[in-house]
Amino acid sequence: MKLQIAVLAGDGIGPEVTQEACRVLQAVAKRYGHLLSLGHGLIGGAAIDAEGDALPFETIELCRNSRAILLGAVGGPKWSDPDATVRPEQGLLALRKTFGLFANLRPVKPDPHLRKYSPIKEEYLKDVDLLVVRELTGGIYFGDKLRDENSATDVCRYTVGEIERVLRLAGKLAMGRRRKLVSVDKANVLETSRLWRATAQRIYANEFPELEVEHILVDAAAMYLINRPADFDVMVTENMFGDILTDEASMLAGSLGMLPSASLGESEDGLAFGLYEPIHGSAPDIAGRGVANPYATILSTALMLRLSFGLEDEAAAIEAAVASAVKDGVLTPDLVRGSATPSSTVQAADAVLERL
Ligand code: IPM
Ligand code: MG
Repeated sequence: MKLQIAVLAGDGIGPEVTQEACRVLQAVAKRYGHLLSLGHGLIGGAAIDAEGDALPFETIELCRNSRAILLGAVGGPKWSDPDATVRPEQGLLALRKTFGLFANLRPVKPDPHLRKYSPIKEEYLKDVDLLVVRELTGGIYFGDKLRDENSATDVCRYTVGEIERVLRLAGKLAMGRRRKLVSVDKANVLETSRLWRATAQRIYANEFPELEVEHILVDAAAMYLINRPADFDVMVTENMFGDILTDEASMLAGSLGMLPSASLGESEDGLAFGLYEPIHGSAPDIAGRGVANPYATILSTALMLRLSFGLEDEAAAIEAAVASAVKDGVLTPDLVRGSATPSSTVQAADAVLERL
């Protein structure tokens, strides 16, 4: 099979982790007889520096001619002046919007060998296997923004259609799992959340009668993620709540450096065009030192092979290789505690390659 992939390394540790993920893709393509075609493009601060635009036209074209996008991370102190007119993050947001990637899937399944590295007590982590489905192209991220000298406004807007499509996708995914779904909102305060809840009640009652559905307020959800994380199966929520809750949920897995994600749009044949990226940011504090954790990006390539190319064996092989490297203690500094010697980015990726 031809694997046409756009690689957007971005900023900070983005280039380091995507480079290792590409080595893994190359190895998998070779072993399973696929033709890998990687096209590299600019995004974020790197694109602003080169072209004055966080998402240049050539990058959009490159992505349009690919089946999937692998992205590192965007942003950094160099471009974070609060008065700047172009920002790296705009590139990522525009990419999600341009390709209609409305559903962001963030699975959280702590590796048993990493439980001891989580700041959460091990006894809470047993049986944690949850999937957050975050709405990705609506809400406060994309509403009108206004600023004058004395005030600022960010509009949070959702249409029924935007809410329905992500709820349906989450419902379908839950039906393929443990058939339990939690919809997270702030319906006691926000109008958009009241629309969200009413829509969720209707969609799930009419279209997913076999799902066990619960509606939880976002503040309570933040607490339950810590004190009863194993109770969740699929959690679906709006854009900003999902952003915040998934950074929190990553602590269950020990480190932000372990969590992959897939951003998907509408799909006809079950295989969607998708954007795959680690949920962590550009980590400018450790960039260029060769110590970033590449596992989240490598695991994102597994999601890519499964969801955009239908290559389940290849995806499972990558996941098994990462699990085996982790089990053997090949861990970057974000995970290692105490006197153990941490591995570098390249060593961690080498360990995955050896086990493939
Ligand atoms: C994420 C990131 C992005 C977001 C930033 C970089 C714009 O935090 O993917 O979670 O807020 O969506
Ligand atoms: Mg985030």
